Formats: sequence, structure tokens, C-alpha cells
Amino acid sequence: METELSRIGLTGLAVMGQNLALNIAEKGFPISVYNRTTAKVDETVARAKAEGDLPLRGFHDPHSFVLSLQKPRVIILLVKAGPAVDQTIATLAPLLDRGDCLVDGGNEWYENTERRAEAMAARGLLYLGMGVSGGEEGARRGPSLMPGGAAPAYALLEDVLLRTAAQVPGSGPCVTFVGPGGAGHFVKMVHNGIEYGDMQLIAEAYDLLRTVGGLSNPDLHRVFSDWNRGELLSFLVEITAEIFLVNDDLSPGDHLVDRVLDKTGMKGTGKWTVQQAAELSVAAPTIAAALDARFLSALKEDRVAAAAVFPPAAAAAGRPDKEKLVDDVRQALYAAKVCSYAQGMNILKAKSKEKGWGLRMGEMARIWKGGCIIRAKFLDRIERAYERDAELGSLLLDSEFAQEMAEREAAWRRVVCLAVNAGVGVPGMAASLAYFDTFRRARLPANLVQAQRDYFGAHTYERTDRPGNFHTEWSKIAAERSLL
Ligand code: ATR
Repeated sequence: METELSRIGLTGLAVMGQNLALNIAEKGFPISVYNRTTAKVDETVARAKAEGDLPLRGFHDPHSFVLSLQKPRVIILLVKAGPAVDQTIATLAPLLDRGDCLVDGGNEWYENTERRAEAMAARGLLYLGMGVSGGEEGARRGPSLMPGGAAPAYALLEDVLLRTAAQVPGSGPCVTFVGPGGAGHFVKMVHNGIEYGDMQLIAEAYDLLRTVGGLSNPDLHRVFSDWNRGELLSFLVEITAEIFLVNDDLSPGDHLVDRVLDKTGMKGTGKWTVQQAAELSVAAPTIAAALDARFLSALKEDRVAAAAVFPPAAAAAGRPDKEKLVDDVRQALYAAKVCSYAQGMNILKAKSKEKGWGLRMGEMARIWKGGCIIRAKFLDRIERAYERDAELGSLLLDSEFAQEMAEREAAWRRVVCLAVNAGVGVPGMAASLAYFDTFRRARLPANLVQAQRDYFGAHTYERTDRPGNFHTEWSKIAAERSLL
């Protein structure tokens, strides 16, 4: 008979839940687990046994699960975002006592988290919304954790999270109290939007090297492995290199990547990020381009039809020098990535200001350095940029990034021009470049757009040389002039 109470509980034992539960147990925190479908409970218990007799107990009913926890009780939910969370709360909340805490570790829409936190507070219960990134491996070995909500709720499980999160030498555990309300889930959402951008930019680099440069899969493996030893060192570049090594079991002699259908799925967080950018009037064209690329990828049949109508652009005379192309694409990828992160960080900053969350931007970069899908050496630089200036308006204005952009600008332009001439779409790299070229110009053609607005809608305009709002009868003056 087990009578000792568990330190913490976890419900929702799909891939992420199972692995996070095992990770917590492995760090020495006795954990109780429960899942609606009880077979997964037994599976998790068996894994805990097989993976070193970890202190994990499984329960087949919510009541005994809740009673097995020490007070104040803390239960992490890793169920499907949306109604499943409400249903799980409806099951558990009546079994809890005042001061107990629920932690939603799913990819939830931050407003749902805020609504639930309020409803829980009215019952004397605490609530956290916690972003968890890292996929299966991250959850098991150490994810990046983005908890947000009531600070006293965070205090209830900080010790567990500090040990469970990924540990980056010299930088600490990849967890911090992100901020109040739905801040944790919002930050995770933007993390995923940035992830969309990174994946798209890497895919464009691959496309250029393969389609224009004629690199084979083994060549691509070498190039990405090499990139992963330099400034592009990151989880996504590393796994990309590995993907080119995998042969196809079903079609011997072929590489599996060539047999994967070119349609990208999605679960919604990238779309939310772009929607939020628009709500906040923050330009995020690289992330939006990545989302659009997924939409277009879904139109496989139409694309096949269009390919027959519009033959490939006339091949440029000869192939570009391979080595030079690889080096240019590396630089373009880096520069485009900086712009994408600048956009993501600007979304966070704008939201933090709107909601009064007090997000510490450098801390966000720090907790993404390990465990999560966008983990990269590059995040060190972002952390340092915000250390130099916590209120930095744009990453592009940081002295270190500004210099890096200047050094890579020529190569980036060559790559985008090459892609345009070859008819190979590089929506992410081109969107980043247009973002950069718009941002870095002291004067834009926005004067003409404003003049048009004043012309047809009397929206008024400001002047460059004196304060105030002005309106001009453009059509009247133009008519008089044309009579002259
Ligand atoms: P996956 O991550 O494998 O795609 P999912 O459908 O997203 O799975 O479900 C993730 C977790 O949410 C599972 O633990 C699932 O419980 P079951 O194993 O019983 O399906 C849980 N879940 C989904 N809907 C739920 C609900 N309405 N109530 C409770 N748990 C639910």
C-alpha cells in the first residue's frame, strides 16, 4: 500500500504528457499521473518502471489521482487545447481545495487561459498557463518552459520547473516566470510563429541549393552539418542535416525526404501569431510569409496544374559557383533570420506594453536557448542585445546585429536576385529583405499614400517642415493646373 503523497500530478498522457511526467519523476519529484483513456496510464507506469523505476504512480480515476497529491496540490494538464481543457478542469476542479493549482501546459490561446484563470480564482484556485516547447525529446530530457499567470501559483512549482527544464551551461534552466495572465501562452505562441519563420527560411535555403545549385542530398547533408558548426548552430539546422541522411525503406536507393509529400500541416499557433501581429499593428512579414507558404503548399493539385501552364523560368546561363552559392545562402539565411526574430520580439514587446505584462525580452531569449525547437546559439546574441538595452526598439538597431547585417547584406541581395531570376520563390528571405529595406529608409513612399488618402477621403496629412494636420483640395488644384 502506497500512502506517501506525490509532490505533483499530471494529466493528459499523450506524447508530451508522458515524457514530461517521466522527466519530472526522473528529477526526483514523486508524481501521480492520470489520463481519460486509462491504457495510457498503464503505458506510462510501465515506462517509468523500465526507465529506472522512477517515482511515478498511475491512477485510473480522477478522484484517487487528486487524493494522492500533497497540498497545496499542483496538477499539470497536457490535454488537447480548447474544449478538452475546459472538460478536464470541470472534472478536476470540484475535487480540489482552496489554494490548489492547475497548470495548463498545452498550446492554448492566451485569452482562454485568462478566462480560466479568472474562473478558477473565483473558486479560490490558482491557475497557470505554461508554454512547453521541445517536442517529445525536449519534454523527456528538458524542455523550455514558459509559465505565466499568478505569481503565487508559480511559486508552488518553481522548484520542480527549475529542475525539469533544459539546463544550459552558463545560462541556467530554460524557465522563468514570464508574466501575469496569459503571458506564458502568448510567449509560446510567438515562439511557434518564430519557429514557422525559421523552418521556412531553412526550406528556402534547401530549395535554392538543390534547385539552382544542383546539390544532392549528401551534399546538402554536408552543407547543413557545416552550417551547424558556425553562426547558424541550432536544433532546426541540425535536424535538417540529419534528414538528408535518411534512406527510404519503401523505395530502396531513394532518400526519404524526396518521397515526403510537399504539403505542410499546422495546428494554428503560427496563424494566431500573424493575427496578433496585425491586431497590434506590428509588421511581421517573414512570419506571415511562412504561414502563406504553408497555405500554398496545401494547394498541391492547383500547383501541379500551374506548373504545366507556366514552365520554369529560363535557366540562367550556367550554374552558379557552388561554393560561392553555399556561402551566400548561409549569409542570406542568417540575415533573414535576424529580421524574423526582430519581428517576433516586436510582437512580444507590443503585447507586453498593451497588457502591462512587463516581459523581460532578454529572459525570453535566454529560456529559448535550450530545450525548445528554436534553440540556437544565435539566441545568445539576442539576450546580449537586450542586456545592452532592455528597451531596444528593434534588434536591427543593436550595434552587434547592425554590423552583422551590414556584413551579410550583399550576399543576401545576390541570393534573392538569383532566386527571382530563377523563378524559385523565396517568400521568407524576400520578405525579410523588404522588411529590412523598408525599415532602414529614412524616407518612404508613404507620403504618396497619405496624399492619396487626403485626396479621396480628406484624411489630412502632416508635413515634413511644420507641425499640424493639413488638408488640400488636390483635385481642384490639379484641375486648375491642367487648364494652364
Ligand atoms: P495527440 O497529442 O496524440 O494528438 P490529442 O488528441 O491531442 O493527442 O490528446 C492529447 C491528450 O489530451 C490525451 O491525453 C487525450 O486523452 P485520451 O488519451 O483519453 O484521448 C487528452 N484529451 C483530449 N480530449 C480530452 C477530453 N475531452 N477530456 C480529457 N482528456 C482529453
